[in-house]
Amino acid sequence: MKILITGSNGLLGQKIVKLCLKRGIQFLATSKGENRNPDCPESNYFNLDITNKLQINGVFEAFYPTHVIHTAAITNVDQCESNRELCQEVNIDATKSLFDVTQRFFAHFLFVSTDFVFDGTKGKYSEEDKVYPLSFYAESKVDAENLLINSEYKNWSIARTIIVFGQGNKLSRSNFVLWVKDSLSNNQTIKVVNDQFRTPTWAEDLAWGCIAICEKSKIGIYHLSGKDYVSMYNFALQIADVYNLDKTLIEEITSASLNQAAKRPLNTGFDISKAKNDLGYEPKSLKECLGLIK
Ligand SMILES: NC(=O)c1ccc[n+]([C@@H]2O[C@H](COP(=O)([O-])OP(=O)(O)OC[C@H]3O[C@@H](n4cnc5c(N)ncnc54)[C@H](OP(=O)(O)O)[C@@H]3O)[C@@H](O)[C@H]2O)c1
Repeated sequence: MKILITGSNGLLGQKIVKLCLKRGIQFLATSKGENRNPDCPESNYFNLDITNKLQINGVFEAFYPTHVIHTAAITNVDQCESNRELCQEVNIDATKSLFDVTQRFFAHFLFVSTDFVFDGTKGKYSEEDKVYPLSFYAESKVDAENLLINSEYKNWSIARTIIVFGQGNKLSRSNFVLWVKDSLSNNQTIKVVNDQFRTPTWAEDLAWGCIAICEKSKIGIYHLSGKDYVSMYNFALQIADVYNLDKTLIEEITSASLNQAAKRPLNTGFDISKAKNDLGYEPKSLKECLGLIK
């Protein structure tokens, strides 16, 4: 197995690199710009902007991957709403370019998607549930998923995930756990929604699931998230608990009062039985993950 990773400077990308190194899996880590992950050897890194088709071709010809794990994306949901062109270019067009080249090399293509493909009216979504995106980011992920689903080439998988958290090196974006911990540590008040329910995902569990899909050559859609179903407010309280921080700094609010550019689904969360049965995916509890990060 030879895995080409896109977005290796991102949180998930860094955890996939870590797991490949630990298991002795051959890999090429790629991201835009220089390697910001000190755990990733420079010899395993290539600067790849996925919007550049020529560069994509060059990387495939040099590395000949058997598997591609495509994590790179514009992940800021509000930025996608305000800069739709960029979102289209990176999340849809570049995914198409990567998928096209993957087919020429007869490799497996794993695309990382999101719970935001759903509208949040049901909760505990399974792989069979109908998608209904509420924002441009969500639409971009649905469009990219459809490139695979509607293709005649069947060697692909989609790993949908939810609120990914963990520690990383020089991340361009923070994540919920780091944001809550850092804000409360600095005595800053934070407002957290009490009406959005999720099954948050430890980045290390998600990386394990992605590698398992590749190792077992699984095809189709997989829901990979944590197993605890919580409101974001409750999640923030749990973080404060683990780090012994002042919970009174967490202000409970509703989504409507936030006035964000992109609409978020209220109740998502996944039914992860398929991943458990097919992959042996066993994510840790939130409490365990927070303890391990600490
Ligand atoms: N984080 C979540 O809560 C969450 C939830 C559901 C789904 N997902 C999906 O999971 C995947 C991984 O998320 P993550 O948390 O690891 O995100 P992340 O930390 O934002 O990582 C995404 C990476 O993509 C890179 N990238 C952006 N544009 C690129 C380009 N043109 N060429 C090459 N690389 C580019 C970014 O580079 P820079 O670091 O240089 O900006 C970043 O390193 C994404 O596809 C995301 O949509 C995430």
